[in-house]
Amino acid sequence: MDTSTIVILDFGSQYTQLIARRIREFNVFSVVLPCTTSLDEIRALKPKGIILSGGPSSVYDGDAPAADPAVLAMGAPVLGICYGLQFITHHLGGKVESAPAREYGHAQVSVVAETPLFRGLPQTMDVWMSHGDEAKALPEGFRLTAKTSNAVAGIADEARGIWAVQFHPEVAHTRQGMELLKNFCLEICGAKQDWTPEHFIQSTVEGIRRQVGDGHAICGLSGGVDSSVAAVLVAKAIGDRLTCIFVNNGVLRKDEFAKVQRTMREGLGLNVVAVDAGERFLTKLAGVTDPEQKRKIIGNEFIAVFDDEAARIVAAEKGAGEEVAWLVQGTLYPDVIESSSVHGPSHTIKSHHNVGGLPADMKLKLIEPLRDLFKDEVRRIGRDLGMPAEILERQPFPGPGLAVRILGEVTADRVTLLQEADDIVVSEIKAAGLYRKVWQSFAVLLPVKSVGVMGDQRTYAYTCAIRAVESEDGMTADWAPLPYEVLRTISSRIVSEVRGINRVVYDITSKPPGTIEWE
Ligand code: XMP
Repeated sequence: MDTSTIVILDFGSQYTQLIARRIREFNVFSVVLPCTTSLDEIRALKPKGIILSGGPSSVYDGDAPAADPAVLAMGAPVLGICYGLQFITHHLGGKVESAPAREYGHAQVSVVAETPLFRGLPQTMDVWMSHGDEAKALPEGFRLTAKTSNAVAGIADEARGIWAVQFHPEVAHTRQGMELLKNFCLEICGAKQDWTPEHFIQSTVEGIRRQVGDGHAICGLSGGVDSSVAAVLVAKAIGDRLTCIFVNNGVLRKDEFAKVQRTMREGLGLNVVAVDAGERFLTKLAGVTDPEQKRKIIGNEFIAVFDDEAARIVAAEKGAGEEVAWLVQGTLYPDVIESSSVHGPSHTIKSHHNVGGLPADMKLKLIEPLRDLFKDEVRRIGRDLGMPAEILERQPFPGPGLAVRILGEVTADRVTLLQEADDIVVSEIKAAGLYRKVWQSFAVLLPVKSVGVMGDQRTYAYTCAIRAVESEDGMTADWAPLPYEVLRTISSRIVSEVRGINRVVYDITSKPPGTIEWE
């Protein structure tokens, strides 16, 4: 069965992947390709429709991203968005000019002609605009379908099957944007809503099986969502020919090393090599107080441990007559450093410590089954793979772990103190039903001692800060207004249960100007 595909040609807009994601939300498969993709490659996907994305350039720029204008006459309906509208106008003989002022932000458009693209939409709509150029004269055969008070907002040549809008239907600020994209994909292109998580799983697993053949792969696990979902997908394709590596870096949370191994092996049936390198990391961290240096040490040490382990696995497989040729990474779309835009997809290994930097002579090829997806799509796939909520709903945890939450020197004793305090925070947040509502909630150990009194005893011990934030993506965050009751319980449990901490404070700094982590 052929899946209905909508091809999005990327002209470099920051929103391009969002178009694909919106379309996948109503279960139509859509894929982003660089605008320079050849007609033959586009044709091979048998697209039901083609979308030309926005982009930062002007059609008159010397290095304006170039698609083959023949895509406009391939026979599949075309929807131009923003720069896409200008590309269509320019290449079909209309006129694009630089606008007197760049239009950026909210705008109101009026629909001025009936077209299937706007079917069921109101006559006036609040939309999101972001452009510097505008269409001044339409190409032959086109008519105006929507306008703002002073500019073209929509055009169409229905006979040729070409539609375009100047605004961005894919961003949430354009409230009817989803309806518009549905009108294009379902009504105009006749795409079927046949792309589902099961479908993604099935076709990805088949793809990996074809790609890897009878080869072997390795995968670094962090215990988080992305690497686990990637590993489970690959294991579904090649079973025990995937070896996962999970490293204890000495700054994991309480019982995490054992728990993650259990879940991965028993719960998910993965073939896991667990490396307890805690001491090795802590030895390197001794005496270090500078935050950046801590990160560097942990990053480099991780790479060293991962490489040692990978080399061991490669050698063992070689002894058995097999070659390890693949490295699985849980890269998500937001991690892709250069978007798969004008310059083509980037295949650099991200410098994230979870990934390792493999020795050049290993020459592993990458498998990145999640590189087109957003976090919530990955969670949806994970649910369909039957993975436990405990993994899928885990709050983000930084690679350098508790080391960036222990201010000052990281020692084994301090790690234990923080693990205990952190465990109380997380379990109380869970008990209050808040774990999924906040983006992150954790404890930070401060190298500040203060005086307290417990029973008849004077105490002199460390301070612990509680951090809980609400956020969409970790880029900006607000401190969470946790209920007083929850704060009260957390505070009294930490002070009475964690010997070595006698004071608890709550961090009420947003990001910016603060960061989420303290280091
Ligand atoms: P900040 O502290 O920069 O954190 O506001 C934003 C988000 O990123 C996480 N974070 C990291 N994740 N390696 C990681 O894998 C790191 O070095 C790192 N530093 C911060 C942080 O937990 C938050 O979700």
